[in-house]
Amino acid sequence: MKKIGVVTAGGDAPGMNATIRAIVRSAIYNRLEVIGIERGYAGLLEGRFRVLDSRSVSGIINLGGTILRTVRCEEIKTDEGVERASENLKRINIDGLIAIGGDGTFRGASRLYRTSGIAMIGVPATIDNDVTGTDTTIGFDTAVNTALNAIDKIRDTATSHERIFIVEVMGRRRGFLALEVGLAGGAEVILIPEIKVDLDKLCERIRRDRKEGKVSEIIVMAEGAGDSRQITNYVAEKTGAEVRLAILGHIQRGGTPTAISRTLAAEFGYKAVELLITGETKRMVGVRGNEITSVDLDYSWMVEKEIDLKRCKLAEIVSL
Ligand code: F6P
Repeated sequence: MKKIGVVTAGGDAPGMNATIRAIVRSAIYNRLEVIGIERGYAGLLEGRFRVLDSRSVSGIINLGGTILRTVRCEEIKTDEGVERASENLKRINIDGLIAIGGDGTFRGASRLYRTSGIAMIGVPATIDNDVTGTDTTIGFDTAVNTALNAIDKIRDTATSHERIFIVEVMGRRRGFLALEVGLAGGAEVILIPEIKVDLDKLCERIRRDRKEGKVSEIIVMAEGAGDSRQITNYVAEKTGAEVRLAILGHIQRGGTPTAISRTLAAEFGYKAVELLITGETKRMVGVRGNEITSVDLDYSWMVEKEIDLKRCKLAEIVSL
């Protein structure tokens, strides 16, 4: 192992820059050369390479986004695309690639490994935390805190006006972010794609709340749990309460990474380099409890991560 590549792909996540920094410095410490691939897998197809030395990653530990930039690349899903990307990696003598991203990024890395034989290590970084084989992902804690900060503010005005607020958070397919934000923010109801939404039960809950003296409610919903505008109108009509919708959107993907996202970046980045040095060829770094571990790269995207139903029940009980 002499020369490694690093790429960020898919949706960005706060802490990706801290991860690039950790990878570059761990690699240089172990006398490896590092090549940064710009613009995700699209840049790999375009041959957008640049040398990353220790100084090139100075002053980025606290920055959201990714200095390498990222693109959602469709071409890497095709045989022709994977072949061209593999040739480009070989052309510049890359011995191993570290791919920072989510399940789509790892699916791409896995195909690249099968075509090129070049070692691929995945580092999970997504605000969705929907990657199997790790308790949490880089960026998740930051996004939870960003959304929480917004909800705390929304709660002030919700209480003053005796309103219901529906707060839509990110998560097109999965509800990990909504569940965590809802639990931490004291939401009365949490709607996630994994559990069928029963709007009549939700309205019944609100009517009961109001009878028992609650003056306002926060409903946190994942974007994939349904049409938030329709739900807002339905709840307003059925409960007679004033309902407002707040869609948090992409603010959840930006901003300064929290200490948890940064320290995870340092540990995952170091571990990824270590896996390459010890000859691993197809792994994803993860954390289980307090231990930094790794799993087969395919496991990370082939197996669906389970939502913790006990945590859903807990959120329901403590919001009564
Ligand atoms: O990267 C994950 C994610 O933030 C999802 O939660 C969200 O649905 C999606 O990306 C949005 O993607 P885009 O920024 O490409 O619209």
